[in-house]
Amino acid sequence: MVCGKPPTARSERADRSPHTGCLASTLGYDAKENCFFVAVSPDVGAREDLMKRIAVLTSGGDAPGMNAAIRAVVRTGIHHGWEMYGVRQGYEGLINGNMTPMTARDVSGILQQGGTVLGSARCPDFTTEDGRLKALRALNQNDIEGLVVIGGNGSQSGAHALSEMGFPVVGVASTIDNDLYGSEITIGVDTALNIALEAIDRLKVTASSHQRAFLVEVMGRNCGYLALMSGIAGGAEAVSIPEVETNPEALAQELRSSYQRGKSHAIIVVAEGAKYNADELLHYFDKHRDRLGFQLRATTLGHVQRGGAPGAFDRLLATRLGAAATDTLARGEHGVLMGLLRGEISATPLEEVAGKTKELDMGLWELAEILAK
Ligand code: F6P
Repeated sequence: MVCGKPPTARSERADRSPHTGCLASTLGYDAKENCFFVAVSPDVGAREDLMKRIAVLTSGGDAPGMNAAIRAVVRTGIHHGWEMYGVRQGYEGLINGNMTPMTARDVSGILQQGGTVLGSARCPDFTTEDGRLKALRALNQNDIEGLVVIGGNGSQSGAHALSEMGFPVVGVASTIDNDLYGSEITIGVDTALNIALEAIDRLKVTASSHQRAFLVEVMGRNCGYLALMSGIAGGAEAVSIPEVETNPEALAQELRSSYQRGKSHAIIVVAEGAKYNADELLHYFDKHRDRLGFQLRATTLGHVQRGGAPGAFDRLLATRLGAAATDTLARGEHGVLMGLLRGEISATPLEEVAGKTKELDMGLWELAEILAK
């Protein structure tokens, strides 16, 4: 039982429709203690037939492959004989009870589409207990007995909070940033990387024609994974990431020595979260142009990286993780994140995932330096 401040003074307990058979969780009000509580039936999820209505939502920044995950969750749930629901606009929709039934046909033709047909949002309200209690109430009012949360760090912290309040939740690892603990690679990373690579390859062509230096800024929030990997795979001359202190003078020296070694172009890939991101570096290079001896041209990829159609890797990863999340609920397990570890679909407790970020493999940083020569 988890207690929280009452959003209203009224005592309430969600009525269950007869079809549900067994309660997954019940939101109630304890007048004596003056608090709301979530009571979980001891048999919750012990058998797949105990759970009849399951919802899925996508949250945080969208990622190519989210639709493939939604499709897998919905169709696997239908395979288990459940009614499937889609929550619109992430946790915001959950708080507002914005959810609709989803049939197998409702997820037709979305496998190859980027974005998320359910919509997504960043929802500060859900970080409050009041917001989460509203969400629990909406879940109970709609007779939802289990939830799949497709998203990254913030989303899985939200999933953990809901799970701590007694509601059966399973997470699916999805973010282009690849900074989520519990999965070596997350849904959307591969497609986002390929989009960055296409841009880098093109910039290299024009950079070579003009013997110019180019700077490409990629997304990734505070994680340098996308920048480092696209730098390695794109053959960049230098990479700048938040995990390593950047010195603009050293970057200028890298560019200069690239030309001295006979290269016809110089590309720096910069992570948006680096101390010297595209704006900062441009400013620095402009200010010291005479002394540094060259000018930089900058391209910021931004959301272009997120909007692509998912490639084969992301479609398959999303499909496998979505199906595994539903199967996990069917086995009566919850409170875990489904991710890929050592090539296997694996479950990591949400309490280990929440609030943590995955560390970058610094061996790859050394590799990038060696290969840039
Ligand atoms: O987390 C995914 C991500 O695309 C980050 O790389 C980026 O910093 C952030 O989301 C941008 O968020 P928004 O789309 O809300 O501006």
